[in-house]
Amino acid sequence: MTDFSNQAAEATERMRQLFPATPLQRNDHLSNVYDADIWLKREDLSPVRSYKLRGAFNAMGKQADKDVFVCASAGNHAQGVAYVCRHLQKKGVIFMPVTTPEQKIRKTRLFGGAWVQVQLVGDYFDDTLRASQAYCAEVGGHFLSPFDDPDVIEGQATVTYEMLEQLGRSPDVFVVPVGGGGLSSSARRLLSERAPETEIFYVEPSGGKSLAAAVQAGAPIALEQVDTFVDGAAVAKMGVNTFAALKGIDADHVLDIPEDRICTTILDMLNTEGIVLEPAGALALDALKDLKDKIKGKTVVCVSSGGNFDFEGVEGGRAGHDPADRARSDGGRHSHQYDPARPVPDPDDARAARECSGVAGRIGALPKAPGRARGICRAGAPYDRQQLSERRSGASGRRDPSASPLNGRDL
Ligand SMILES: Cc1ncc(COP(=O)(O)O)c(C=O)c1O
Repeated sequence: MTDFSNQAAEATERMRQLFPATPLQRNDHLSNVYDADIWLKREDLSPVRSYKLRGAFNAMGKQADKDVFVCASAGNHAQGVAYVCRHLQKKGVIFMPVTTPEQKIRKTRLFGGAWVQVQLVGDYFDDTLRASQAYCAEVGGHFLSPFDDPDVIEGQATVTYEMLEQLGRSPDVFVVPVGGGGLSSSARRLLSERAPETEIFYVEPSGGKSLAAAVQAGAPIALEQVDTFVDGAAVAKMGVNTFAALKGIDADHVLDIPEDRICTTILDMLNTEGIVLEPAGALALDALKDLKDKIKGKTVVCVSSGGNFDFEGVEGGRAGHDPADRARSDGGRHSHQYDPARPVPDPDDARAARECSGVAGRIGALPKAPGRARGICRAGAPYDRQQLSERRSGASGRRDPSASPLNGRDL
């Protein structure tokens, strides 16, 4: 085996001290729909309901001499770091924006227990990131990047390593979501060594095409705007280390998915399979719609990367998907705001009626006509952000889209 394969194999072995391999499951529903052999690598079933635990564990395990770990995050990276802090009995200081939904704060505290201190600072991720870095410089903790760290990338490679072991052969197609590129760069490195014949598709949200931008420019560049609905994958700028491994990929292997459409896949997986996916976790599955002609009869593995869907903001009715609504609702950090002006579902439409009466109606994307989604997820801002911000810390800040590579990201 080559270098990166060896590293991934060893990292996978170490990972077993923390949790068993996540399942690789053949999905009959999707296989039928696409007339292909479709498998899901269920990272939504990891102990923190995303693969981010892997990178955190690998990176922290290699820094055994460090007593304090610091990160900035409002989502999956935070939960991974917290979980590992408790496991390794190391102190963690986790900076989160004051606007972070309570559920995510609670889970982070729960996973970390007494080992973790959560600091709520800043309205936006950039402010939070700056505060965490200032803390690191002052106190000397080890800063854990959510993606642009070779040890984090090596940890994420265990997803692909496990997948190959579990499948027992190379898939024809591997579909991965992309945010800052931790998972995808590790997949490319590993598959280029162990399964070069596997075709990889990289999927990002339309509101955060940082990989497409980097591929076009030949280097990571900062997007001017990011729609953060797909919180895990909404990144303004790819990582330097991650892009080094992704450089040279074909632009036509980078797909982007409109935010509205992702909701239909979240609902489909919930209604049909009972699988709860968060927007970033549904990206790879949703991309199958664009790949349907290419994948017929093939073996395809999609990474369902996370299942931390936040129902905190879900209320009756549907929500608009006008970017202006989102900007009004919470400055764009979360996405969707209820729009009373939107038409209610057609009562004669049995599917719409059924969906509207349940959870699906609450987060419901209700296709009225092919290609047109009428309702959309409401994924945030049920609270008065100003009030919450003042209540929690009094901190506030303005968002500067070019300020950091992690801008706007709910990591
Ligand atoms: C569920 C989920 N999927 C995908 C991603 C994309 O991550 P990466 O930075 O590894 O590209 C993230 C990042 O936080 C995530 O939480």
